[in-house]
Amino acid sequence: MSETSKNSRRSFLKGAAAAGVGAVAAATTARAQGTPDPLITEVQPWATGLGDGVDATPYGLPIEYEADVVRRNVPWLTADPISSINFTPIHALDGTITPQGCAFERHHSGAIDLRKEDYRLMINGLVDQPLVFTYEDLERFARINRVFFCECAANTGMEWAGAQLNGAQFTHGMIHNMEYSGVPLRTLLEEAGVKPEGKWVYVEGADASSNGRSIPLEKALDDVLVAFKANGEALRKEHGYPVRLVVPGWEGNMWIKWLRRIEVMEGPVESREETSKYTDTLANGTSRKWTWVMDAKSIVTSPSPQAPIKHGPGPLVITGLAWSGRGAIKRVDVSKDGGKTWETARLANPGQPMALTRFYLDTSWDGKEMLLQARAMDETGYVQPTKKMLREVRGENSVYHNNCIQTWWVKETGEAENVEVS
Ligand code: MTE
Ligand code: CO
Repeated sequence: MSETSKNSRRSFLKGAAAAGVGAVAAATTARAQGTPDPLITEVQPWATGLGDGVDATPYGLPIEYEADVVRRNVPWLTADPISSINFTPIHALDGTITPQGCAFERHHSGAIDLRKEDYRLMINGLVDQPLVFTYEDLERFARINRVFFCECAANTGMEWAGAQLNGAQFTHGMIHNMEYSGVPLRTLLEEAGVKPEGKWVYVEGADASSNGRSIPLEKALDDVLVAFKANGEALRKEHGYPVRLVVPGWEGNMWIKWLRRIEVMEGPVESREETSKYTDTLANGTSRKWTWVMDAKSIVTSPSPQAPIKHGPGPLVITGLAWSGRGAIKRVDVSKDGGKTWETARLANPGQPMALTRFYLDTSWDGKEMLLQARAMDETGYVQPTKKMLREVRGENSVYHNNCIQTWWVKETGEAENVEVS
């Protein structure tokens, strides 16, 4: 924040305090005029009776007033809710960790019920000793804790041809960020002993779709985790209970849920899924293949269509998320004029590799309309492209891997809309 904006913020807050009200209330004239506020002058019901006992909620849920902070789906996107997707309410969250209860889900054949007792993980193929692990076996290996984002390759996919969905939840909500506890896949592969001909692993889940994918051995031995806890507690059913694969920085499709088998192979399995669905179609009719890494991306989560500005001119916190599958976020810039001029945002914490980074621009709003954008830069020096730049390379027929700069048109009323700027 510049000195001048710091000073203006301080004097604004001082003025508000002098009027006997909080900063946010300053714009509401009734209180600024000195009308007594019963919430301050009167004893309230919650202070005269007793609250809930410790036995009221053995497992706590969000308070009812936060009932709109939930996953949502777009019914017309898919034919049925079984093979479908829903979206994280990123517009309503802060910090970087996504609570499991509102982290997006993507299933090809529904979320299955699999008990720990029935869980088995097999490693076979080009190994010295094929092995089968129970859940308890996995718990006996040295485990680590790491925070990573998981982004579906289809995130922002509806926005290729034009501004489509009105809200950060829908345009950018196929992402979550959790702290995983698990065993490095490398440990388990070493236990089985990979033969020299082994160059790939084919991984699949226990659900009907199995979601089989091939991963190069190099990645499998690098940072892939066989995870059984997320944010400190057991994985939720919908995220692969009891065990899922975590493939840092790579598209969500490879993060196999209900992980049941890992086969070491000489080459990749050319499944129909991979060659048809998970390939990007380019303008000239050719395809981009093996696009596993999620490129640097960012999004302003507030203000945004679902999180309008509810106050008048003066202090405004612009915030959002940035991430890169190639490493840590180094810088995020925010534009209020559709990319003509940029201000560097404050990172809440130094960027962590392949994890969400929260940014803030503590600014002052003049009450005029804005074309809000964020632009991420990662440690490789890569800069998030504009929509125009991305289309020049990949045309308008792509669905997957859309990491372009998003624009919100914030109106004088504080409401915001999904738009494109040329
Ligand atoms: N694993 C299995 N077994 N079945 C699936 O349908 N969907 C994949 C991946 N792993 C899937 C799966 C896709 S496309 C994505 S984006 C991520 O899981 C989503 O993980 P989530 O549901 O925990 O958000
Ligand atoms: Co996906």
